[in-house]
Amino acid sequence: MAFAATALLLLFAACGVNTQSTLQADLNSPSSIRSAAKTVARSLLSHYNGDEPGQTIGILPGPPPKGPYYWWQAGAMFGTLIDYWFYTGDDEYNGITTQAMIFQAEPPLNSYMPANWTASLGNDDQGFWGMAAMLAAETNFPNPPQDQPQWLALAQAVFNTQAARWETADCNGGLRWQIPPSNGGYNYKNTIANSVYLNLAARLARYTENSTYSDWAERAWDWMVGVGYIDAEYNVFDGGHVEANCTDLNRVQFSANAAMLIHGSAIMYNITNSEKWRGRVAGLISKTVEHFFPDGIMVERACELEDKVQCNVDQHSFKGYMHRALATAAIVAPFTRQGVMTVLRSSTAGCVKSCLSDGTCGFRWDTGSYDGDVANGPAGQEMSALAALTTLLIEQKNQGPFTNKTGGTSVGDPNAGSNPFVLKPLPPVTPGWRGGAGILTAVVLASMVGGLVWISGPWGENI
Ligand SMILES: *[C@@H]1O[C@H](CO)[C@@H](O)[C@H](O)[C@H]1NC(C)=O
Ligand SMILES: *[C@@H]1O[C@H](CO)[C@@H](O)[C@H](O)[C@H]1NC(C)=O
Ligand SMILES: *[C@@H]1O[C@H](CO)[C@@H](O)[C@H](O)[C@H]1NC(C)=O
Ligand SMILES: *[C@@H]1O[C@H](CO)[C@@H](O)[C@H](O)[C@H]1NC(C)=O
Ligand SMILES: *[C@@H]1O[C@H](CO)[C@@H](O)[C@H](O)[C@H]1NC(C)=O
Repeated sequence: MAFAATALLLLFAACGVNTQSTLQADLNSPSSIRSAAKTVARSLLSHYNGDEPGQTIGILPGPPPKGPYYWWQAGAMFGTLIDYWFYTGDDEYNGITTQAMIFQAEPPLNSYMPANWTASLGNDDQGFWGMAAMLAAETNFPNPPQDQPQWLALAQAVFNTQAARWETADCNGGLRWQIPPSNGGYNYKNTIANSVYLNLAARLARYTENSTYSDWAERAWDWMVGVGYIDAEYNVFDGGHVEANCTDLNRVQFSANAAMLIHGSAIMYNITNSEKWRGRVAGLISKTVEHFFPDGIMVERACELEDKVQCNVDQHSFKGYMHRALATAAIVAPFTRQGVMTVLRSSTAGCVKSCLSDGTCGFRWDTGSYDGDVANGPAGQEMSALAALTTLLIEQKNQGPFTNKTGGTSVGDPNAGSNPFVLKPLPPVTPGWRGGAGILTAVVLASMVGGLVWISGPWGENI
């Protein structure tokens, strides 16, 4: 019998079947959630070595082909870790977070446009770091020493450099996806660039009570509706090209686009207490729950298909942004709270079953077990699991984002980032955000090979 059991184990190991038990987490117990989150955080941070000698501070292994992760994903990871600290109180990773956030801002401009990563520098990539800095201000994350750039000023620098890039010559406005004209994707005006911009504008407006920012959030919303990226049913599509005046709508739906809008709109509702923004928040959340949470568990439907997963490394991290956006909406738009908590709880229950006891997490959350999907990550999977677990603690924390008037201590600079600065364009390479546009490119290439005009991709059945 013993021999048979050993043989079976060896067979499992040989077949790559993981015999480890699943992560234990009682989602009704805050201390159990905290302990499971700590395990997942440790597993996530095992992929980060930027704090080790000879490594580059603040990046995950990459960008491709040097490793799987583009520059922006580390920014998203540090944002996730700031939330982790805020919700759990565990400050184990605060030191490396501050170090990375300051280092990658890069002086003298300190606006998250480091020369090293120009070749994959999109407005969204820059924006994910900017949103992490904004979150640090909103959560009163320990302020950097006075001679270093401050959280609020970093977020303002990102906002200011992006506001300067808003251009009306094509598509009646909007931000392009990429920043350097030489990058592939410079001709794509997409939802992620503009929804991250809206998100940052709304949060700066709330924190500083400066209406310049909220005017920009309104403008960004109106523009996205104007070009049809957000439709009347609150579907959120991916983008269009300037050659087509943005009318060649790429109808693929990624959760990250909707997540940025949910968060930003909830903040705008909180500031304005208006029916207009209330309707937008309600509409976005209801469509999101219907589309991305079939059976109450999150599915990245554009690429997480029933029979196969086609999501790239970026897309493997999207679920966490949605969980975090919904959690913030539950706090700043309390009318959404009951519905949001229900779906966050059921989705997180699915997520936990996708993790192993050592904090390794899978991508599919709706199968009841670990899927062994490590090819496209796994930092993104673990960021998502960490976000899902920690945001359940909003019930206990019950603390909205601070503002300058309600205890926020971060010092800003309304003119941050506005010094003259010329980007050194590098030869075009594959850009950082591999959301819709990467897919669009693949589809266009495929249809060119087939001699067809692009109409709809293989994603059509899922949209
Ligand atoms: C840029 O790359 C160089 C060479 O690898 C490295 O020394 C430097 O720390 C990097 N800077 C940033 C902001 O990543
Ligand atoms: C481009 O689209 C905008 C609306 O998004 C419209 O106002 C403008 O007239 C269009 N321009 C051209 C050249 O078709
Ligand atoms: C934030 O509040 C401080 C006083 O608490 C004030 O000096 C400062 O000007 C305020 N900053 C903004 C951006 O309103
Ligand atoms: C704004 O958010 C706070 C939590 O930070 C909440 O107490 C307040 O009710 C919200 N305002 C509105 C209009 O919902
Ligand atoms: C409000 O923000 C805008 C945009 O950054 C800035 O130009 C303006 O000086 C700010 N106003 C105040 C009172 O800080």
